[in-house]
Amino acid sequence: MKDQVEKLILEVEDFKTTDTNELESFRIRFMGKKGVMNDLFKSFKDVPNDQKKEFGQLLNTLKVKAQEKHTKLKSELSANTNQNTNKPDDLTLPVLNDQLGARHPISLIRNQIIDIFSRIGYTVSEGPEIEDDWHNFTALNFPEEHPARDMQDTFFIDEKHALRTHTSSVQVRVMENNKPPIRTISPGRVFRNEAISARAHCIFHQVEGLYIDKDVSFADLKQTLLYFAREMFGEKTEIRLRPSYFPFTEPSAEVDVSCNICSGKGCNVCKHTGFLEILGCGMVDPNVLENCGIDSSVYSGFAFGMGIERITMLKYQINDLRLFFENDVRFLKQFQSA
Ligand code: DAH
Repeated sequence: MKDQVEKLILEVEDFKTTDTNELESFRIRFMGKKGVMNDLFKSFKDVPNDQKKEFGQLLNTLKVKAQEKHTKLKSELSANTNQNTNKPDDLTLPVLNDQLGARHPISLIRNQIIDIFSRIGYTVSEGPEIEDDWHNFTALNFPEEHPARDMQDTFFIDEKHALRTHTSSVQVRVMENNKPPIRTISPGRVFRNEAISARAHCIFHQVEGLYIDKDVSFADLKQTLLYFAREMFGEKTEIRLRPSYFPFTEPSAEVDVSCNICSGKGCNVCKHTGFLEILGCGMVDPNVLENCGIDSSVYSGFAFGMGIERITMLKYQINDLRLFFENDVRFLKQFQSA
């Protein structure tokens, strides 16, 4: 009997586990109702009186050791499981795709402009951002010494190449490569050597429009722009044309739309004029048609150019152009449902 208890004590001392089920079996084997401990206590009465004291002490040692062992292993195991739950997420798991991005407001308005003009038959054309002198200036009737060629406005790459300063360069390419009738818009990035402020940036976006056919008149231009303004800013929008100058159009005009904030009554945004400038336009200068291989005695046409940033600022009442380039998600998120 004594030997049996001593063996059990050794078993308890040697017992090790990292498994909660094994620990539970240990508890049942030693401390359970039908466990060895109870059996031994029951058989205590059969032990001869002179050995009772020694046997009792042994039994007690076994009991205490088994309990200590159980408590120790139990706390180790629960510390381990806590550690497990504090572990970083499993990085090999597939990503939950619940962070949807939003389209950039400039892209939203560019797409809207393309949509509006495609409904009246305009195609979309594109040209290079690095442009040669001919397409950016000369073909568009810029005199050799015109101030727009000045280093201050233009990022020159070499003697003959620059970052395009406007998308009007694309109209030259389209006319060179296509026969009238031509109806196209050319959206794209343009570059000017400007100081960055709330109202100006050295990179911005324009959409150029070009319509060349027989008998195209200024009235067609006006009606096209009225259609555009009403589709973009609402059906009650009015437009106003002011005479202006561009080397590539004659006559030329700048176009204002009635202020969509105060409906033309006058407010801070329109500086109490009731109107906001949105684009430049005019009848394509015969020199430009000829430069691009189009017979100006047969064909005429109009062109217009607008800044996408400006239209977007008016449409969403954004007062600082720099927001478009900062990629601040707090700004961009606001266009998620647009
Ligand atoms: N290219 C002009 C600019 O960047 C905009 C412009 C004005 C385009 C009149 C045109 C136009 O086609 O006819 O300021």
